Amino acid sequence: MRVGKLCSGVVATALAFAGGAYAQTVKVGVVLPYTGVGAEFGQQVDRGMQIYMKLNPGAFAPYKVELIRRDSKNPSGAPAKTAVQELITQDQVDILTGFIYSPDAIASAPLATAAKKPMLIMNAGTAWITNLSPMISRVSFSMWHSGFAMGEAAAKTLNAKTAVVGYTDYPPGKDSLAAFKAGFEAAGGKVLDEIPMGGPGQVPDFTPFFQRAKDRKPDLFYVFVPAGDHAVAVTKTYGALGMRAAGIKLVGPGDITQDIKLQSMGEGATGLITVHHYNADLDNAANRRLVAAWKQEFGADSTPDFMGVQGYDGMAAIAHVVRTLNGRIEAEAAMKALRGWKYDSPRGPIMIDPATRDIVMNEYLSELVMKDGRLVQKNLAVIPAVKDMCKELKAGKCAQ
Ligand code: PHB
Repeated sequence: MRVGKLCSGVVATALAFAGGAYAQTVKVGVVLPYTGVGAEFGQQVDRGMQIYMKLNPGAFAPYKVELIRRDSKNPSGAPAKTAVQELITQDQVDILTGFIYSPDAIASAPLATAAKKPMLIMNAGTAWITNLSPMISRVSFSMWHSGFAMGEAAAKTLNAKTAVVGYTDYPPGKDSLAAFKAGFEAAGGKVLDEIPMGGPGQVPDFTPFFQRAKDRKPDLFYVFVPAGDHAVAVTKTYGALGMRAAGIKLVGPGDITQDIKLQSMGEGATGLITVHHYNADLDNAANRRLVAAWKQEFGADSTPDFMGVQGYDGMAAIAHVVRTLNGRIEAEAAMKALRGWKYDSPRGPIMIDPATRDIVMNEYLSELVMKDGRLVQKNLAVIPAVKDMCKELKAGKCAQ
């Protein structure tokens, strides 16, 4: 499916006359799920991109950017690969971006390498994706940013001795399990059980998996699911099985407390502890500006979330590349421009690690609390300038 141009202010097709020369129009192929289980994620990233353009109208000047959107449909990777193929061969894009699901990025990586197209990942979190192509850089996160830090905090701050891990059974879920386990066990904890809990394509009935976790009587239950409706079902099942009353804390990466889903989680979600790189309640000037602009543009009940901010920062990175390369995009030069790039993001200061092309950023330890009848994130601690620990530790596939 072709997704039309959503916002005429964002999309420009005409050549601009600037400084005595015709300025380039840079074509950006955007691969996101605009339909299916991930449609809301596609919308959040897209909105983040739009808000960046709105708040920074001169960011690309004197060049123009044309966004060509393609629907990656389901999380299997196959439709995303087809979309990338079309963007490269038919649309002749200069830059590829988007990619919510890891399989989408994994399937597309060889195409970016073969066609020498810079590929800027705005979500897909499996740590080793950046090792799949020298053309890939990531402005989102690795599952190890949050998972490893949550493992350490579980042992050191929450004083847990034992944990059970439940995870959606595909690459980022396996990665999140490995990350939590590495952080938790290095700090003296013990993972008692590892429970695969269905795939990303549909929300399973979590009851049997959570019952198995409850029966192990751990101090805490670490859960990764790919945000969205999966996350709402997690908190509901945790409540329905009386796990808190049984003394088992629910913790996870911030994927299980996505801002757009918080108010559907209900009071039972209070006390949930997560580590993540963004939540809409972060108190800094750049975030206040983002949240205000977002609500003005998309409605008082709308909110940015981690996916929205990744779209926002991704556009900032693309603008930096376009300006640095004077509108003429060449993959190796684009990666050179991105290495070491720094930005004052709504999530706090970010940088692209010159060594890995992956992001360096703060992680926030947060607790969900009820305030004025709404669930909000209370910031408990900041872990500054966190790198992808999978590559730092050369763990598993990150050793390659
Ligand atoms: C992924 O597929 O890499 C993914 C999707 C959703 C998330 C996190 C990771 O919340």
